Amino acid sequence: MPATKGLEGVVATTSGISSIIDGVLTYKGYDIDDLADHASFEEVVYLLWNDDLPNQQQLDAFKKELAGNAAVPAEVFEQIKAFPLNTIHPMAVLRTAVSTLGVFDSEADVMDETANRRKAIRLQAQIATVVAGFARIRDGKDPVAPRTDLGYAANFLYMLFDREPNETEVEAFNKALVLHADHELNASTFTARVCVATLSDVYSGIVAAIGALKGPLHGGANEQVMKMLTEIGSVENVPSYLENAFANKEKIMGFGHRVYKNGDPRAKHLKEMSRQLTERSGEKKWYDMSIKINEIVTNEKGLLPNVDFYSASVYHSLGISHDLFTPIFAVSRMSGWLAHILEQYSNNRLIRPRAEYVGPDKRAYVSIQDR
Ligand code: ACO
Repeated sequence: MPATKGLEGVVATTSGISSIIDGVLTYKGYDIDDLADHASFEEVVYLLWNDDLPNQQQLDAFKKELAGNAAVPAEVFEQIKAFPLNTIHPMAVLRTAVSTLGVFDSEADVMDETANRRKAIRLQAQIATVVAGFARIRDGKDPVAPRTDLGYAANFLYMLFDREPNETEVEAFNKALVLHADHELNASTFTARVCVATLSDVYSGIVAAIGALKGPLHGGANEQVMKMLTEIGSVENVPSYLENAFANKEKIMGFGHRVYKNGDPRAKHLKEMSRQLTERSGEKKWYDMSIKINEIVTNEKGLLPNVDFYSASVYHSLGISHDLFTPIFAVSRMSGWLAHILEQYSNNRLIRPRAEYVGPDKRAYVSIQDR
């Protein structure tokens, strides 16, 4: 049977978590547009891991559980301090730190569902502390301990900046987390499912997923978008930059998508957030440049922005370092990866496809002196 390059169009599993039918993204049947406008990230995580949205009591208990598990073993930060932090990418740090969290979790290889759910809580709670703590250590500062009285989005910004974020910042960051939480069988989620389908542990599945998200064709694109915006520098430079990029057949980061040919439903939210936040920060040029790039790339190439394009200027406007954009994507997507890992375990079969062999025909072994 001939191979399908990149598994395009291949339906590899059933899943009850998120759907992108007809270009509409839903989590457990709830439209992402409604969730982005109304839900807290904690509500969305609860939804992804359960059958429905939580009621107030369930949400309060869930938030308490997350907040209560956010501290990480001191060894994790000690290990990070020993890394060559000026030369290593934060996604490599995150990949290693999450693996270390597994080493210090005595339940790492306990495979029953309740233990796996406890690990899910710990991983979701701790990834925010790890990313924020790493950023502080890299800047020569001490990590800020998580607070139990703040919501997930607020707590992350608090640990990152060592100050309480304002309402606008929390609202914007919460919305970004909601929008990135899950996305059907994207590359990193598929990677996580392949890993745990061998009945390997949750930590191994998440480490594998982080490795897949790191690549510039997937989650790594948001950092590359900001690199492009910085390189272009002004709205006036956009046409010549793109002309040159098109002539050199370069990919324009933040555009195109394997499954959305009529637009990524998350992009419009991030576009509006980018407008508001760049106006607020007095650096509207990032939004104006993005709009100009969008206009030219869509007109000339027929490509539409994906989730990563406008998220770049959103995160920049929140004062977040550019190389933290992809780790922040991982903070949010952790929720989707865990939902898929739990779903995979609940109805598991080893994932082992075939390859179409295109190598040499059968031939006789030649002894080394005759080669
Ligand atoms: N810039 C320029 N040309 C592009 C782009 C782009 N961003 N995206 C697709 N194209 C072109 C391809 O070169 C190809 O042209 P060809 O037919 O002349 O060879 C055509 O459009 C079809 O694209 P494919 O590469 O077949 O699309 P595929 O589904 O394999 O890849 C992908 C999708 C990886 C997202 C691609 O569009 C891309 O590389 N985009 C830039 C990176 C990016 O933004 N990634 C984030 C995606 S969202 C996420 O993962 C969170």
